Amino acid sequence: MNTEPNKKVFIKTYGCQMNVYDSERMNDVLNSLGYGTIDTPDDADLIILNTCHIREKAAEKVYSEIGRLRILKQARLVQGKQAVIAVAGCVAQAEGEEIIRRAPTVDLVFGPQTYHRLPQLIEAVTSDGKKVIETDFPAEDKFEDLARQNSVKRLARGVSAFLTVQEGCDKFCAFCVVPFTRGAEFSRPVAQITAEARELADAGVREITLLGQNVNAYLGADNDGKKFSLGLLLEHLSKIDGIERLRFTTSHPRDMDDELISAMASNKKVMPYLHLPVQAGSDKTLKAMNRQHTAEHYINLIAKIRKAKPDLALSGDFIVGFPGETDADFEETLALVREVTYAQAYSFKYSVRPGTKAAEMADQVPEDVKSERLARLQILLNEQQLKFNQACLGKEFDLLLERPGRQDGQLVGRSPYLQSVHIDGNGHKTGEIVPVCVDNVGPHSLSAHIVRRV
Ligand code: 5AD
Ligand code: SF4
Repeated sequence: MNTEPNKKVFIKTYGCQMNVYDSERMNDVLNSLGYGTIDTPDDADLIILNTCHIREKAAEKVYSEIGRLRILKQARLVQGKQAVIAVAGCVAQAEGEEIIRRAPTVDLVFGPQTYHRLPQLIEAVTSDGKKVIETDFPAEDKFEDLARQNSVKRLARGVSAFLTVQEGCDKFCAFCVVPFTRGAEFSRPVAQITAEARELADAGVREITLLGQNVNAYLGADNDGKKFSLGLLLEHLSKIDGIERLRFTTSHPRDMDDELISAMASNKKVMPYLHLPVQAGSDKTLKAMNRQHTAEHYINLIAKIRKAKPDLALSGDFIVGFPGETDADFEETLALVREVTYAQAYSFKYSVRPGTKAAEMADQVPEDVKSERLARLQILLNEQQLKFNQACLGKEFDLLLERPGRQDGQLVGRSPYLQSVHIDGNGHKTGEIVPVCVDNVGPHSLSAHIVRRV
């Protein structure tokens, strides 16, 4: 395959961390072809919108972005230059050829499991001038193919990196599009993950966040065919020199096994942070959501994890106004939040995703009721977040320094609990892990000072 000297690519990433990972891998593939990465679209020969389908009106937002890019593409044509416009990610998967029908300016549509074939896809678009749509499953081929392409290096882009270990979902929660856009559950082999983690460590990465839509359902094989759970995988990766911190997201309550809890409890490199969505507190709603767990199961599970890991920072996701949710059901969500207590959480109004079970349900909740419930839930969650931060005042912990702050000499890092922490850098550099003491807390970040030189 010919390289493309002096060509430039701009990728706009929407949505979750897995999309951030996917965009980085697309950049890796394109860099190996000679494309330089730029962070504005104006001079780009190739523009990729890596889209997300999880939020309301996601597709509409993509179409209006394409409208803006159409003007840019025409302006470049006047200058005798091309701009290939590509739509990738979950909207591409869900909409397929509809995108090119509605927005003929788009040249290429490719789903989340196909970006290893970008060299061929781009070739087809640029040399034949064809519109290309590629929305194949499954995920296996992508990872195998990327690992085989020797020219594609996993470039590090900072001291903390994402690494996808599991993709897809077989749970089919009634509200969720993920099983349709990302496909069936699939776990990458241990050796492939280990090789990628080593490449990251060699490139200066100190912290890796393992990603999966259902990350704790991870069950991957090593070269001897032995199966590794996520707990075992974390233990295994913790032995890599240079990797000092491991995180993982997003977990499902049904897949929280003892191996994982024990890795969290005993392995110092596994950070005390868990994103474990419950979505709602009423068993009736949970059943309608097809969550496959009750509120009691979740509450007991958190108690068990906290017994093993008392300083756990718990995070979650909530949906208010799921079809059929009554005031009394919603009160049960508030009661669950009061009982469990969160360090941080995301909360959303339910919104219809065509093709999902919940889209056909009767008893859709009126918008104003959803808004009112969301506001009440968020007041409670914000209070809990502030309380969690306040409890850190005077505490000492290690800080991974990630980037310069806004003020001169300031550095920003992450606490073990994933809070942003500002310090006076005092000659220290990003990538270092320094012991700090917290001396100021706000709702969204902390500030601290270094307690002794390392
Ligand atoms: N409506 C509202 N929130 C949703 N989520 C997923 N699908 C929907 C939907 N249709 C939320 C869930 C999930 C998070 C990533 O997004 O809380 O955990
Ligand atoms: Fe969606 Fe449920 Fe799967 Fe999470 S577990 S990705 S919410 S279907």
